[in-house]
Amino acid sequence: MAEITLKNLGHSYSTAPMSEEDYALKPVDLVWEDGKTYSLLGPSGCGKTTMLNIISGLLHPSEGQLLFDGQDVTQKSTSERNIAQVFQFPVIYTTKSVRRNLSFPLECREWEPKKIANRVAEVSELLELDDILDMPARRLSADQKQLISLGRGLVRDDVSAVLLDEPLTVIDPQMKFSLRRKLREINRRTGTTMILVTHDQSEAMSFADEVVVMKDGRVQQSGRPEQLFERPQNTFVGYFIGSPPINLFNVDVQGDSLACPALDLSGIPRGQLEPGALQIGIRPEHLSFSEPTEKGAIATVEACENLGIEQIVSLRAQTGEAFKVKSRLRRKIGVGSQLAVSVAEKDVLVFQDGRLA
Ligand SMILES: Nc1ncnc2c1ncn2[C@@H]1O[C@H](COP(=O)(O)OP(=O)(O)OP(=O)(O)O)[C@@H](O)[C@H]1O
Ligand SMILES: [Mg+2]
Repeated sequence: MAEITLKNLGHSYSTAPMSEEDYALKPVDLVWEDGKTYSLLGPSGCGKTTMLNIISGLLHPSEGQLLFDGQDVTQKSTSERNIAQVFQFPVIYTTKSVRRNLSFPLECREWEPKKIANRVAEVSELLELDDILDMPARRLSADQKQLISLGRGLVRDDVSAVLLDEPLTVIDPQMKFSLRRKLREINRRTGTTMILVTHDQSEAMSFADEVVVMKDGRVQQSGRPEQLFERPQNTFVGYFIGSPPINLFNVDVQGDSLACPALDLSGIPRGQLEPGALQIGIRPEHLSFSEPTEKGAIATVEACENLGIEQIVSLRAQTGEAFKVKSRLRRKIGVGSQLAVSVAEKDVLVFQDGRLA
């Protein structure tokens, strides 16, 4: 097990990168702490696989250093790094039994048969494979195959970290849930660092102690799920995390403070902001509504989506700005009706040129 440090680490697939745009991974400093679970989250093409392959050694970075427990491993081969990597599609021997799939990596390392048997039994117990150990791997379901891929990585007793590159894509939602829980359980029992790549925010948020959000080859923010939710460092994170995404509103500068006409707010502290494009962001969960006779800005209901115990109300402010409110399901809300909308001051985030002020 190891702490993994990226030191000004970046990668361009081009042999002669001319500008930042030529970098699939823009140089970044990042520490993955030993024993934690992480998600690497971002849209397609943002550099997730590139970062993961650099950590496992499938790819050598064009810039910077990679350290495991302070030791430079940048030039070390995959096998010297002891990383277990699980890919989108299971990598297993379909002609071999589950047992042989698990034992084979150890046979290749010339472990003693008895030691192999013990270790396979341990991993089988951990992944709950005892009932299928002697089945041919080709007869397994997709999620079982993915468990075997994982097991093949975990049998070695020197794994520094488990890297999972969208391993749940081929699995149906119910199985996803149970496999994700199993991964967390393994992390708890073995203390192995796990990095799960996904572009599904709810998967990322429910799996990881910390989520690393990427866009266009750049790390946007790294933090606990609630930090990303409560204090997104930029509007992209506000948008990518949370469903529906954060609402953004135009503001007017009034001396030392800001006003938001759409929500009838004024006196929003402005702090030491430089001139620049200003907006405020409010999570749909942080807005509340009441009868139009009560306190708050008046807005018109354009749609109301019932999610069972919650509802998402789409509203239009008198300024013409559209926004959404997410609340517990209460009475029926008619399209075209008017509501008073309010927010607590602490839930108003100020963004300057897209960055949290
Ligand atoms: N072998 C390669 N040669 C050249 N460019 C590549 C190569 N692999 C990836 N890229 C480019 O690098 C960028 C990052 O790709 P990467 O595969 O790391 O993204 P990703 O976040 O894993 O995307 P996805 O979610 O689709 O898997 C993309 O623009 C991609 O086209
Ligand atoms: Mg990828």
